[in-house]
Amino acid sequence: MIDIHSRVDVEGMRAAGKAAAHVLAELRPLIQPGISTAELDAAAASLMKLHGCTSACHGYVVGRLTYPGYICISLNDEIVHGIGRDDRFIQDGDVVSLDVVIRKNGFVGDNAYTVLVGSVPEPARKLCQATENALMAGISAVRPGGRVGDISAAIQGAIQPFGFGIVREFVGHGVGRQMHEEPQIPNWGSKGTGAKLVPGMALAIEPMVTLGSPKILMAADGWTAQTKDGRVAAHYEHTVLVTEEGVEVLTRI
Ligand code: MF3
Ligand code: CO
Repeated sequence: MIDIHSRVDVEGMRAAGKAAAHVLAELRPLIQPGISTAELDAAAASLMKLHGCTSACHGYVVGRLTYPGYICISLNDEIVHGIGRDDRFIQDGDVVSLDVVIRKNGFVGDNAYTVLVGSVPEPARKLCQATENALMAGISAVRPGGRVGDISAAIQGAIQPFGFGIVREFVGHGVGRQMHEEPQIPNWGSKGTGAKLVPGMALAIEPMVTLGSPKILMAADGWTAQTKDGRVAAHYEHTVLVTEEGVEVLTRI
């Protein structure tokens, strides 16, 4: 069942999206050489308090595992779901994906951004630019009466010309009172296929793209997904609302 939000719920989703966007925007300038990823995680927890929300990741259970962090911090060859560590420090040249998922008054807002620290080599810069452009292309494909596959195809079409890898194991998703709701939104697919887009649906669109092979490897912590070939990955995400007119980005300040 795809949760169709009533008008009052739309206001709840707008507030959650705004809080998620503020926390992410205020974290970004803290990403400087020398800060530990545990310090970034702690800063995220206090920013969430400041914005009247809580982490939707902290305590999230998958199988026998409970997520220990407040946000996901994924460096370089890590793709998603990296955990802050007090022995891991940001360095010049790092490519840092921050994924902030919050709950405010029962509603979830989900967004991610990849920060380039100092002198990042050109191929990684191109990868990040292409991935952010692919997110925007996916968002532009959202319209009432359209299909999930329109979003998937737009993302794939924006990545394919570069020959970058599209991660298959993780996808975008519906979002509402739960972090992960139907429908799944793959970052590849065909226009005109999949679930119909209806005004009131909230969607987290999140291309995860690799410089080399899209094959992944799970780290020993059971959460961190990294590239098998050790090359860099990028990840950008917005929560959007399908409207009568088209689309509204909820995680934009
Ligand atoms: N944005 C990520 C996702 O949609 C957030 C994961 S939180 C975690 O999968 F706790 F599962 F890591
Ligand atoms: Co998400």
